[in-house]
Amino acid sequence: DKGGWPSFMAKEITEQPDAVANTLRGRIAADETVVIPELDGLDELFTGINRIVVVAAGTASYAGLVGKYALEKWARIPAEVELSHEFRYRDPVIDAHTLVVSISQSGETMDTLMAVKYARENGAKTLSICNTQGATIPRESDAVVYTHAGPEVAVASTKAFVAQITAIYLLALHVARVRGTVSTEELAGFTAELRAIPEKIVTVLEQTESITQLAHWMSDSRAILFLGRHVGFPIALEGALKLKELAYIHAEGFAAGELKHGPIALIEPGQPVFVVVPSPRGSSTLHSKVVSNIQEIRARGARVIAIAEAGDAAVLPFADTVIHIPLAAPLFEPLLAVVPMQIFAMELANAKGLDVDQPRNLAKSVTVE
Ligand code: F6R
Repeated sequence: DKGGWPSFMAKEITEQPDAVANTLRGRIAADETVVIPELDGLDELFTGINRIVVVAAGTASYAGLVGKYALEKWARIPAEVELSHEFRYRDPVIDAHTLVVSISQSGETMDTLMAVKYARENGAKTLSICNTQGATIPRESDAVVYTHAGPEVAVASTKAFVAQITAIYLLALHVARVRGTVSTEELAGFTAELRAIPEKIVTVLEQTESITQLAHWMSDSRAILFLGRHVGFPIALEGALKLKELAYIHAEGFAAGELKHGPIALIEPGQPVFVVVPSPRGSSTLHSKVVSNIQEIRARGARVIAIAEAGDAAVLPFADTVIHIPLAAPLFEPLLAVVPMQIFAMELANAKGLDVDQPRNLAKSVTVE
């Protein structure tokens, strides 16, 4: 039931505040520490390891890429992300000191399931982040942290993605607590940031109309580029994937720092480029580097759509359009910055008269390898 929405995707995009809130529910204690009841008594999954490998496909892999920054920053443990279908075919180095974390909305993606089985057979510990109770991947894993996004019907993942980032952040904070790498005060600060996200997503959703207008203006674009840096990089990849799968427009995401190493050659007058601008309150160096990237592409005629923190005046002179997101600590910005991209891709597909819930050639759950 679409509940009055024109599509399941439109409904699911607006359900994102709940997807985050429900994934947090029961996992933040009164003293603001993280408690994940499913992981009670499983501390040895996190103490006896020296490495975390995240395996996933598609959008779920981008949630993993965002999670890598949090795992390394908070839990001080080396983390890498690998596409599940690449993982087991290259004789990866894993052992009993490796925790393999899989991320899957459906819990049935064959590529990811086979990666988890491979990890277990080779002695690694396994933990599943999954949105579907009792699905195959969590059943094949040593532990599971469920996302509570509710059933996702539209083929393109939206609310499951923000729930996946929320879950891997909770996991990173749990591992950090178990390993003693964050103080109680720091933990409380991070859980407060997480609890504030649902309200902030509501604020982003209020801009749906202007983003829809932008999508209509841009509906005859032949290619659209996405740039981001730090946690904004996986968000650029996700923005590009959403546009490919929904609007059938060629789209690429790049790390902003890569521009001068090649992709800037693509910039010609009129080329639309989305740029995820990191908060100036995080690293001012990172912020000013991305602002100079914007100047560089603008000087070559790019049409810049910046997704920037409210009040970030530095981007205003150089961007054709600025979409503002509420203030959040730098690691939490992905949960907000992805939302305008989802709306943009959906509305551009709508403008082209396409079926946003059921894009051509795609299945919701890929149960073949
Ligand atoms: C993109 C999308 C896919 C899935 C991928 C993994 O919008 O939905 O890229 O993220 O097929 O699916 P799950 O999470 O079910 O393993």
